[in-house]
Amino acid sequence: MKKSGRWVKAMEIMKDFEEKCGTPIGKLRQVADAMTVEMHAGLASEGGSKLKMLISYVYNLPSGNEKGLFYALDLGGTNFRVLRVQLGGKDSGIVNQQFEEVSIPPNLMTGTSNALFDYIAAELAKFVAQEGMDFQLTPGRQRELGFTFSFPVMQTSIASGTLLRWTKGFSIDDTVGQDVVAELTKAMERQGLDMRVSALVNDTVGTLAGGRYTNNDVVAAVILGTGSNAAYVERAHAIPKWHGLLPKSGEMVINMEWGNFRSSHLPLTEYDHALDAESLNPGEQIYEKVISGMYLGEIVRRVLCRMAEEAAFFGDTVPPKLKVPFVLRTPVMSAMHQDTSPDLKVVANKLKDILEISNTSMKMRKVIFEICNIVATRGARLSAAGILGILKKMGRDTIKEGEKQRTVIAMDGGLYEHYMEYRKCLENSLNELLGEEVSETIVVEHSNDGSGIGAALLAASHSQYLETDES
Ligand code: GLC
Repeated sequence: MKKSGRWVKAMEIMKDFEEKCGTPIGKLRQVADAMTVEMHAGLASEGGSKLKMLISYVYNLPSGNEKGLFYALDLGGTNFRVLRVQLGGKDSGIVNQQFEEVSIPPNLMTGTSNALFDYIAAELAKFVAQEGMDFQLTPGRQRELGFTFSFPVMQTSIASGTLLRWTKGFSIDDTVGQDVVAELTKAMERQGLDMRVSALVNDTVGTLAGGRYTNNDVVAAVILGTGSNAAYVERAHAIPKWHGLLPKSGEMVINMEWGNFRSSHLPLTEYDHALDAESLNPGEQIYEKVISGMYLGEIVRRVLCRMAEEAAFFGDTVPPKLKVPFVLRTPVMSAMHQDTSPDLKVVANKLKDILEISNTSMKMRKVIFEICNIVATRGARLSAAGILGILKKMGRDTIKEGEKQRTVIAMDGGLYEHYMEYRKCLENSLNELLGEEVSETIVVEHSNDGSGIGAALLAASHSQYLETDES
């Protein structure tokens, strides 16, 4: 192929991709409406929708009265966190807190259940052993833990639940169908660690609880990280599949597992279909695969790979590194996308360091920058549409007469935290969808590590030493 022919072909591939990723406002509204419809269906019956709308058994969010020493363990991605917090009750709030982050050896993500839980319990035991004088357990009490486990779990109570399936690159067959609290408890026993799991929560539910602790207007939480998901406060009587007693609060937190949402309105491309087919969980988590951090960089890689193969974009041979799945991680994509230098130096450096592609022309770098922009824009706009879907379900997408109710959405996750272009685009799109007047009543608030603190707070409010107030 002649050089000019190559360029024409490369532009064709890019334009075609851009077109198929289009998210005009009308499409976003269709996605939001589909999300609302699926929420209803998932609440109506078990298996009624791709959206599992899981019951969390959290009827009451933290009040601020929580008191004592509590631990949390937050497992949901390639890292996990252990945390202890001393809660001082109404007047003093969080008196003290400490945490540690530990990365999970990749082989444990696809190994055996015992190996994973033993590793986690051992790290937790080490952390507990370092508890200093700044923390005080009420004498005679057993240590209690809030377990944030960020995968789809069918809960059977606030402190038990079976794993439905793994997501985000985990794949350990013998955990599926097991009670993850029992798995952790057995591993803690094997470590000789005397601790009780008082609350099992999804990270979205933890973030909602953590957010509510400091702000009464928090009614929903969204995670945009490796994976993506949302939780919100539902009226208990609007959950037909709930056959338990109606809680006193009249409310129930629902873990939507929105990552598994799919709809014919989602603008999916051949690259998305191929990514899905080759993933550890084909056919599942389709929404997650277009909006979340685990996948955005990989989509960009796939488009570049096609341009290399069919348009010799990087020269006569396809750069070998470019063929390696998941080498182009989202933080790298984000760095390239945020490159403001006039000669796109960051893009050039990342291509060299990560993909071993040197001597790129300015024209080529601009194309790569543009592909990052297309992928991030689609993801951010679709997640804004998801949020609108929730607001609609809650009746908070319009302003009721005479009432200016504030709605706060607690947001966390590395993608939201670090990928500024994505974050800006999400916020602008949400404002565009809501219109000026409603926008003023909706606040997206970054809740840094809300999920760990939230789990500790829920462990406190579900402590074995308290009278519970569930029904
Ligand atoms: C995945 C998990 C979900 C979690 C989300 C964010 O979608 O299935 O449980 O909340 O990632 O971590």
